[in-house]
Amino acid sequence: MHSSNEDKHKAPKVLIPEVKIQARLNELAQEINHDYRGREITAVCILKGSFIFFSDIIRRLESPLTCEFLGVSSYQNRTVSSGEVKVTLDLNEPLENKNVIVFEDIVDSGLTLSYIMNTLRARRPASLKSCSLLLKPESLRTEIDVDYLGFKIGKEFVVGYGIDFAGKHRGLPYIGYIEHGH
Ligand code: IMP
Ligand code: MG
Repeated sequence: MHSSNEDKHKAPKVLIPEVKIQARLNELAQEINHDYRGREITAVCILKGSFIFFSDIIRRLESPLTCEFLGVSSYQNRTVSSGEVKVTLDLNEPLENKNVIVFEDIVDSGLTLSYIMNTLRARRPASLKSCSLLLKPESLRTEIDVDYLGFKIGKEFVVGYGIDFAGKHRGLPYIGYIEHGH
């Protein structure tokens, strides 16, 4: 295997095509609409990776919505992940007594979402659920419930549809993977 500069410019291979993502979003939204039945939702977008997923799914929700944005970034240069994440942008509004759904792009070890859920639970929402587009079951290192899940995938490193590799590929309309170069 080699890794050259050219690899970085190759379009990632398709893992989940755009039509499949959109079809699954219809089903996920239907589940959420069924569960909430018009109750107000505070929808929390986890930045940056979830911004496209978030904007696509909230347009399918029938409840009155408040949109909130939570910026998180994993700490770099740690040999063992503590699961503690750096909050780079906090929510604008309190969550107390709100029905909150957290929208995440991908759950890998599960430590990030677990940290986020614990942090938000401390703010005493009336209810707190999670929705992730992707989950890597073989990589999980913590027990975590994803209430609404788009797709289970293998251990491959994915990009696109908001998800990046070193800041790149967020604009792809599909979920792809890179064969070389990392
Ligand atoms: P976790 O804490 O191990 O579950 O990692 C979650 C975070 O790691 C995600 O929010 C992503 O930012 C990043 N991540 C995990 N797997 C991938 C991947 O395959 N592609 C891009 N980012 C990933
Ligand atoms: Mg993320």
